[in-house]
Amino acid sequence: MGKITNALKKAADERMTRIEKVSKIKERDQLVVKKIGESKMDPSVITYFDPKALISEQYKILRTNILSMNKGKPPKTFVVTSSIHSEGKTITSLNLAVSLAQAVHKPRVLLVDADLRKGKLCRYLGTKPEVGLSEVLSGQANVKDALFNIDIDNLAFIDSGAVPEYPSELLSSDSFKKFLSDIKSDFDHIIIDTPPIISVTDSGIVGAQVEGVILVVQAGRTQRGIVKRAEELLFQSHSKILGHVLTNIEYHLPEYIYRYL
Ligand SMILES: Nc1ncnc2c1ncn2[C@@H]1O[C@H](COP(=O)(O)OP(=O)(O)O)[C@@H](O)[C@H]1O
Ligand SMILES: [Mg+2]
Repeated sequence: MGKITNALKKAADERMTRIEKVSKIKERDQLVVKKIGESKMDPSVITYFDPKALISEQYKILRTNILSMNKGKPPKTFVVTSSIHSEGKTITSLNLAVSLAQAVHKPRVLLVDADLRKGKLCRYLGTKPEVGLSEVLSGQANVKDALFNIDIDNLAFIDSGAVPEYPSELLSSDSFKKFLSDIKSDFDHIIIDTPPIISVTDSGIVGAQVEGVILVVQAGRTQRGIVKRAEELLFQSHSKILGHVLTNIEYHLPEYIYRYL
């Protein structure tokens, strides 16, 4: 995955992102989108600002790899985690979600911030919804109150919400199982961003309840032994590793070699 720079910052500054409220009425699949405010998306969401950029192409390759898994029966719900903090989980989740939503068959995509301790999804999206996953799981809000739209029609997100007292317990509770089963039929892909597995058990807890886990590894920083330990922890939690995503890779070849069009 190419190194994400602030090269697109200017474009991001000029372009306002609409964050919209999604609420469901009558029919299960019918979504009414309500605009709730304006925000500025972080330039690291390159797939949004420049879908044709080299880096966006890397996320499309990741999308293709996911969509072609299991002989065309790709995992519907999966977790993104890493061994340690700041390896690129949230940026990978976000760019992958945008890239999936941009696919020609227009799948309905949901991105969930299940990093209940240090969720940063809303920071990258430039907005802070009042309600998120922790409120849904603790029974203070309904799922429909926590669903928001980015101004890509078929991409919704749920923020992490207020930091709860016992995050792991909330994620292993029946209310998380109910949340997953309530939301499943409304989306074609659900991407769940989580904390690092070596620090806390949360991604293993969620990983065991979905079809698998993508393990993000930051090249040049995370040592082999650490990644092995993360894999062991995921294995012990009965999570299936679907694959790895390497971040922080520098391109040494000029861009024209990669460019086809
Ligand atoms: N593919 C990438 N290449 C280089 N840097 C990246 C990449 N993905 C994310 N980053 C940068 O790494 C930092 C941490 O990213 P983030 O997604 O918040 O990490 P995490 O969710 O693992 O804590 C951010 O500054 C982000 O811009
Ligand atoms: Mg994160």
